[in-house]
Amino acid sequence: MNDLDSLVLSAQDAFATAAQAAELENAKARFLGKGGRVTELLKGLAALSPELKKQRGAEVNQAKQRIEAALQARRDELAKAELDVQLKAEALDVTLPGRRRGTGGLHPVSRTMERIEAIFASMGFDVAEGPEIETDWMSFTALNNPENHPARSMQDTFYVDIKDADGRWLNLRPHTSPMQVRYAQAHARKHAGRDPMPEIRVIAPGRTYRVDSDATHSPMFHQCEGLWVGENISFKDLKVVFSDFLRQFFETDQLDVRFRPSFFPFTEPSAEVDIAFASGPLKGRWLEVAGSGQVHPNVIRNYGLDPERYIGFAFGMGPDRLAMLRYGVNDLRQFYEGDLRFLSQFK
Ligand code: DAH
Repeated sequence: MNDLDSLVLSAQDAFATAAQAAELENAKARFLGKGGRVTELLKGLAALSPELKKQRGAEVNQAKQRIEAALQARRDELAKAELDVQLKAEALDVTLPGRRRGTGGLHPVSRTMERIEAIFASMGFDVAEGPEIETDWMSFTALNNPENHPARSMQDTFYVDIKDADGRWLNLRPHTSPMQVRYAQAHARKHAGRDPMPEIRVIAPGRTYRVDSDATHSPMFHQCEGLWVGENISFKDLKVVFSDFLRQFFETDQLDVRFRPSFFPFTEPSAEVDIAFASGPLKGRWLEVAGSGQVHPNVIRNYGLDPERYIGFAFGMGPDRLAMLRYGVNDLRQFYEGDLRFLSQFK
């Protein structure tokens, strides 16, 4: 093997061991660069006689071409390898199923609220919403809870660290009953000149709060307050309206409804409303679904109306409770855990 063959061989070796483009360019410089070995050989030709120069020159050139060919081949190889790596890294697995956009659904409690609203709307009830942070007067005093009376602590209320104009802590409303007062006051103002005043017929659905948490109580829950006040609205109307509502809500006439005497500061007389299904898993069991009663004269007065003239009934029910009964859910907390396996059953 002559010196040129071995030069070509060592160039091929050097190129082959270059694992990256930069390394390859370094190796190239060692052979073909300014001070490279091929360049040195070409420079060396100057010292030769014309004949020798011609022959040796041709041989050196040939070696140079072989080295250049080897360089190009290795460049191509490295470029291809790099491309392969890149392609692999960016590979798309077209066999993966695409991401579908799921269809959403209304939360079971929202559905229940809408259902309640629709039924009462069909009976001519307006729907009103109001603040979840209330004044002491609205949540308690206006509803005939005397100061320092045990009824004021019938439930454990959350308070907000801000005082109202009366110097009382604001509260997270423990029931939607303050909406009776807000709505009736606004109604009385709006119709101040009219005699008699048009009847008040409203329901007030919304979130409420109490310090309470177990399978059937959540610190945030829902209520729907109802109020019907006019010159001639009696307990009989309450029984008809509410029983009718319940039968529509549960889509059955096979439902017993019972008004059980009870106490609420804001009504007199007061009654707890119980229902019993004639069939199904809860058959025959009395279940409490609402509180109700004839609005107390003090509360009518706090509406800004004359209790000698206006009379009516009110009720407050728990949509969460109704949703549990309607859908057969036995743990209230499931409504608020956000578990899609549970929620998607109601779509
Ligand atoms: N506010 C009561 C509660 O939170 C529910 C209630 C009972 C509302 C009787 C009423 C009513 O309007 O008349 O338990």
